[in-house]
Amino acid sequence: MKIAIIGTGYVGLGTGAVFADLGNEVIGVDIDAAKVALLQSGTPHIFEPGLAELLARNLKAGRLRFTTDYAAAVPDAELVFICVGTPAGPHGGADMRHVRAAARAVGGHLTPGRRTIVVNKSTMPIGSGDLVGALLSEEAPAGARFAVVSNPEFLREGSAVRDMQHPDRIVLGSTDRGAAEAVAAIYQPFDAPVLITDLRTAEMIKYASNAFLATKISFINEVAAVCEATGADVRQVAAGMGLDPRIGPQFLAAGIGFGGSCFPKDVQALEFMAEEANCHPQLLRAVLEINRDGRRAFVRKLDRLIGGLEGKTVAIWGLAFKPNTDDLREAAALEIIADILARGGWVRAYDPAAMDGARATLASPRVAFCADAYEAANGVDAVALVTEWNEFKGLDLARVRDGMRAPILLDGRNLYDPRELAQLGFTYRGVGLPTSADGIDLPEFSQIAPAVTLAIGDDK
Ligand SMILES: NC(=O)c1ccc[n+]([C@@H]2O[C@H](COP(=O)([O-])OP(=O)(O)OC[C@H]3O[C@@H](n4cnc5c(N)ncnc54)[C@H](O)[C@@H]3O)[C@@H](O)[C@H]2O)c1
Repeated sequence: MKIAIIGTGYVGLGTGAVFADLGNEVIGVDIDAAKVALLQSGTPHIFEPGLAELLARNLKAGRLRFTTDYAAAVPDAELVFICVGTPAGPHGGADMRHVRAAARAVGGHLTPGRRTIVVNKSTMPIGSGDLVGALLSEEAPAGARFAVVSNPEFLREGSAVRDMQHPDRIVLGSTDRGAAEAVAAIYQPFDAPVLITDLRTAEMIKYASNAFLATKISFINEVAAVCEATGADVRQVAAGMGLDPRIGPQFLAAGIGFGGSCFPKDVQALEFMAEEANCHPQLLRAVLEINRDGRRAFVRKLDRLIGGLEGKTVAIWGLAFKPNTDDLREAAALEIIADILARGGWVRAYDPAAMDGARATLASPRVAFCADAYEAANGVDAVALVTEWNEFKGLDLARVRDGMRAPILLDGRNLYDPRELAQLGFTYRGVGLPTSADGIDLPEFSQIAPAVTLAIGDDK
């Protein structure tokens, strides 16, 4: 099929590359000429495992192209996917300015005498299908026909390509069943369950799914705070809970909470929509508040551990909002670093993928950017692990310890084994772990089967 993708960010680029790989003819449109030039030359402007190969293969095969020009992409397309950003607006609702601009531009380039299916893939508030339909109507030339389908995306950054190629469900909402079925056909090779609903229900499925996952994270983080205060081990609590199939083991990894371009803004947008509709979104408010508190509590704990941050230097391991991405949007590290600086501290930062973005975002003379985790830890008063990249798991921690001014490690993701760190001479603190009065916590964690403990860590 001939497909136009509007917006070539994490979702649009992944979607376009995967659809091209299935043999479709895909053109990506973006208003950012620098991004388009990079993509056209075969270089992804974002880091996603497997994306560079997919891009190269499909550019070479001539199935994938990029342009800034709607006229080169929309008139011939059978399907047009809107994948532009919907960031948080000033009052918490989704900022729909990019969607409006994209819908108007698409409408103006529809072809008279043809029928085009416009697919809302961005996460858009309930009612956006009608809004996009109205904007298309306003701009479309006489004789152009179109249908609007909502097709929310569930991919996770860090595994965007794999998630697109192995979706667990395809949700399609439309008032035009034939149009929804035509979109379903494109996903047919993936053999995933397809749910066809009305427009508003499909839009709500996306918000409700993200809000539920965020709730699970805030839930376990609240439990972690109680564990820490009462001497229980949240890792074992989560493992014990997760064995109940009604609960399941995923998204029960206690830590410093969720970030990124989706959970925070989507929960906030759902809260906003609920308030606008005179509902009382008490649970959603609590989910966001617990998440904010987790970051503040982390810095307070750090402050206590090193006897005040004023004049002290802390290594921050991990800046991206989660591993395997360079995305810094709503990353916990940014807030944590700002808090450390506000308390008079200094920072030595390192991330395996997000250094360029971090340099642009964190311009302060009190933040040093380091080449690796060892360099970051050199001479510091404490290490704070913020993002659980795999490479941090494999570090030589004795070498890290020897380079530090004081061997203090605050683990915001429970990546390390407290027993091992204590044996190495670290003062170690995780999240929701019991701590004895002398600061050594040594719970036995051996009764839990490895398969179960591994499954818990599947975070957004
Ligand atoms: N990132 C994720 O993990 C993820 C997952 C599921 C759903 N979503 C949703 O998908 C949408 C896109 O997210 P993203 O992370 O890919 O955003 P992004 O910011 O990475 O990409 C958006 C792209 O759209 C382009 N753009 C903006 N206005 C445009 C216009 N008028 N015409 C053409 N291009 C335009 C921007 O230049 C940018 O390249 C959002 O609604 C988001 O909530 C994101």
